[in-house]
Amino acid sequence: MNTGVRNKEKVALVFGGSRGIGAAVARRLASDGYAVGLTYVSRPDSAQRVVDTVVAEGGEAIAVQADSGDATAIRQAVDIVVEHFGRLDVVVVNAGILRLGTVDAFTLADLDQVLQVNVRGVYVAIQAAVAHMGENGRVITIGSNTAVRPLSPAGTVYGMSKAAVAAMVKGLALDLAPRGIRVNNIQPGPIETDMTAEHIERIKDMVPLGQVGQADDIADLVSYLAGSSSRYMTGASLTIDGGMTL
Ligand SMILES: NC(=O)c1ccc[n+]([C@@H]2O[C@H](COP(=O)([O-])OP(=O)(O)OC[C@H]3O[C@@H](n4cnc5c(N)ncnc54)[C@H](OP(=O)(O)O)[C@@H]3O)[C@@H](O)[C@H]2O)c1
Repeated sequence: MNTGVRNKEKVALVFGGSRGIGAAVARRLASDGYAVGLTYVSRPDSAQRVVDTVVAEGGEAIAVQADSGDATAIRQAVDIVVEHFGRLDVVVVNAGILRLGTVDAFTLADLDQVLQVNVRGVYVAIQAAVAHMGENGRVITIGSNTAVRPLSPAGTVYGMSKAAVAAMVKGLALDLAPRGIRVNNIQPGPIETDMTAEHIERIKDMVPLGQVGQADDIADLVSYLAGSSSRYMTGASLTIDGGMTL
């Protein structure tokens, strides 16, 4: 499931790039001139569609199956992309899962799974990626506006996982500043994807701008954080939610 050659001029890796926000990010970075690696966990068909779209538009992409709950798989995905394209400049850690439930009903299995993918998986992905980055590397995470404040009951564990990402980004920005690597976090509000499909109508009325966001709204911000216009920015969490958390 790949196309491309080694030693591209700039290379990006998107964890969870097969659908939704991650797919839009992969396509956007490809149109910005990056050779793109993307991971998926369960939808090879969706991942292949993203690769095909990038290639049809003259770009280069490979898709790698890697469960972000599995540290070994994450590290292997980084190695495969670096081996294939010859370098790594930008990593976007987007893979994430949503489990909803109030405290009386939330299971330990769901708690562990959310933390495994949304927190541990993010840290491991960044750790593996930055090992291959030179000066001017960029790390971008996809958190959530629920890290700012809870927006409804039942989102505690998801929100705390995304608050952990915001804290992680501040710490890693300090760790990596001496190497010239910038680390920033995007905190979307409701974006129309498979993840939100069953909640979107209800959520729309909670957004001051009166509409939910689109995956391309987040891809635009990723493009900015990956580019040189954001050269003085690190450790930031940028909330993009139509004013929902004001
Ligand atoms: N949509 C929103 O309103 C919203 C708001 C705030 C934050 N976010 C965050 O934005 C990110 C993307 O959300 P989305 O709405 O685009 O989600 P989505 O439509 O459910 O897509 C999730 C993507 O992540 C991948 N993924 C899921 N679990 C994975 C795992 N264990 N290992 C590797 N990849 C995995 C999926 O791969 P497969 O295709 O193989 O399943 C898919 O590419 C998440 O971190 C989410 O928490 C979303």
